[in-house]
Amino acid sequence: MKEKVLKLKENALEEVKKLSKEADVLNCKAKYLGKKSELNEFLSSLKELSVDEKKVMGPLLNQTKKELEEAFSQKLEEINNQVSYDFDETLPIYVETGSMHPITLVIKEMTDIMKKMGFTVVSGPEMEEEYYNFEALNIPKDHPARDMQDTYYLSNGKLLRTHTSPNQVRAMQKYGAPLKVCAPGRVFRNEDMDANHDTTFFQLEGMVIDKGISISNLIYVMRSLLSETFKKEVKVRLRPGFFPFTEPSFELDCSCLICGGKGCPTCKNSGWLEFCGCGMIHPNVLRESGIDPDEYTGFAFGFGVTRIAMMKYKIGDIRVLNSGDVRSLQEFEIE
Ligand code: DAH
Repeated sequence: MKEKVLKLKENALEEVKKLSKEADVLNCKAKYLGKKSELNEFLSSLKELSVDEKKVMGPLLNQTKKELEEAFSQKLEEINNQVSYDFDETLPIYVETGSMHPITLVIKEMTDIMKKMGFTVVSGPEMEEEYYNFEALNIPKDHPARDMQDTYYLSNGKLLRTHTSPNQVRAMQKYGAPLKVCAPGRVFRNEDMDANHDTTFFQLEGMVIDKGISISNLIYVMRSLLSETFKKEVKVRLRPGFFPFTEPSFELDCSCLICGGKGCPTCKNSGWLEFCGCGMIHPNVLRESGIDPDEYTGFAFGFGVTRIAMMKYKIGDIRVLNSGDVRSLQEFEIE
């Protein structure tokens, strides 16, 4: 019997060595260790043996069973490990990562700078009431300034805001004075589209109201904000302008970002780039929003964020920005 058991073990080990499929190993295991296996029969017949024989055969059978079990599980593990080699670890891994939209980046960068200067970021609805977009900003019905800001009038009596300036009024009414807020956002106009004009673009409004605020505060804030945004010292200058909601009103120019003021094709040899509208908040606007113009003064400005993004990332055609084409995003030099 001892010989038979040893032979059985030898055969089983020999057989399992040659197998390479999981199913075959499991079948082989059933053959040698299953209920109907020869080994099991030997184990059942132990009780019929004499005490001395039991002393020899008992340990031998148990040891054989253990060794075979180990051989089978080792083989199964070997096969399972081999399966993982089907995965080619040498293949290059290509992970497509997204990137932020240039306008999102510029808004984030500029509002971060403004937050450090003490501004609070506010927002208002894109579908705006005529009152906030025009009347409260000293632009009554039939005022010629409405012509330049023609927009989409909706059937619910509202309109798509033409600028971020309505946020000035909303903030003044909500928080009162003193106040230091900025409001980035999307604006809309009835516009013929070309490389420089789109019906949908972005602005960033800024406003400071306190006792004794003057034009020099406006110049200082604008110069600091633009220098930080473009990461270089810039000069600013004011030219007279007209906006119904500021008095006096200005057009703000910034020293050319390309030539630094010497004159180049970008600035049409003037050394200056036209940047944004600004001015001292009109007393009518302050009064309309519940702030006493004899006690408080303030300045406001409105940037074209879309233009800044185009300059910063050298984007030649404004229409790319609203195209939703991810390939175009990958082209910009965004660090
Ligand atoms: N809202 C004006 C526009 O879209 C820009 C502007 C001018 C904003 C003067 C201001 C400002 O806050 O004071 O054309």
